[in-house]
Amino acid sequence: MDKKPFVIMVASQKGGVGKTTIAINLAAALIYQDYRVLLVDTDVDSFSVMEHLGIQGVGNGFKEIVAGKAEIEDSLFVYQNIDLSIILGSPADDAVTFKPDQLVKFYSQLVKQNYDFIILDTKPGMFPSSIARYLNDVVIVATPDSPSIASSSKLASYCEKLKVPRRLVINRAGYSKFELSKEDTEKMFGDVAFVMVPEDKIVPESLSKQKPVYLIDRGSPFAMAIDQIARVYGLKAGDVDNSTTKSKRKGFFERMAWWGAKTNKK
Ligand SMILES: Nc1ncnc2c1ncn2[C@@H]1O[C@H](COP(=O)(O)OP(=O)(O)OP(=O)(O)O)[C@@H](O)[C@H]1O
Ligand SMILES: [Mg+2]
Repeated sequence: MDKKPFVIMVASQKGGVGKTTIAINLAAALIYQDYRVLLVDTDVDSFSVMEHLGIQGVGNGFKEIVAGKAEIEDSLFVYQNIDLSIILGSPADDAVTFKPDQLVKFYSQLVKQNYDFIILDTKPGMFPSSIARYLNDVVIVATPDSPSIASSSKLASYCEKLKVPRRLVINRAGYSKFELSKEDTEKMFGDVAFVMVPEDKIVPESLSKQKPVYLIDRGSPFAMAIDQIARVYGLKAGDVDNSTTKSKRKGFFERMAWWGAKTNKK
């Protein structure tokens, strides 16, 4: 029996904290756990999933679908290396804003797609309140410095107001001796940090090779931290029946023969 996808938004108030990097690798980590994953680049201002993955020359993407000029089903790009479906960003000649009813229409169609997880990469800032009801979880990404944590607290309060569960992920930990400690971060944020993702030189390497870290070194500290996040979501998805979608993927992952593929599920 098919079920509704679990929708995870990767968000931050400040730019450049690692949302796209984490969104792509979280998608990869869930795929390596045998889940069917759709990644959506909703960052209309500087769509960058394509850049991170070296994808060129595609047609319609998020902007055209939300504007009603294209259908989701006709606009899916499949990143063959890991069998990841993506709704890509596309260039705009002007500032793009969407009406709430356009967004509601898009997200109501999106959650009808046959995936276990939908991961939304976003632009920095608050997300439109009209889409809150389609989100199962928000991963708030922050770096371990006070401006980033202070603005993340605001985003967390916004999520609470909209009744959307949220978790704080600290990215680029261990980079500077002046960074906030885990304890100070949690004190300032007012809640525990879900996962600390370390600064890791595998990340710039993956950018230059235009591949997810997962395809370069799954044993790297960065990939292992992302695995921790994926494991929690994998357990969540394990609570509900998705046996049909999982079994469809089986052959692909048996061929991949990754040691960790099934260790995290009940
Ligand atoms: N854990 C990490 N270790 C080392 N470098 C990192 C790490 N995470 C992110 N980076 C680097 O930080 C930069 C910004 O990352 P990314 O593009 O994912 O941020 P973003 O939050 O999506 O930015 P934007 O707000 O512009 O969309 C990139 O150069 C990336 O390689
Ligand atoms: Mg980004």
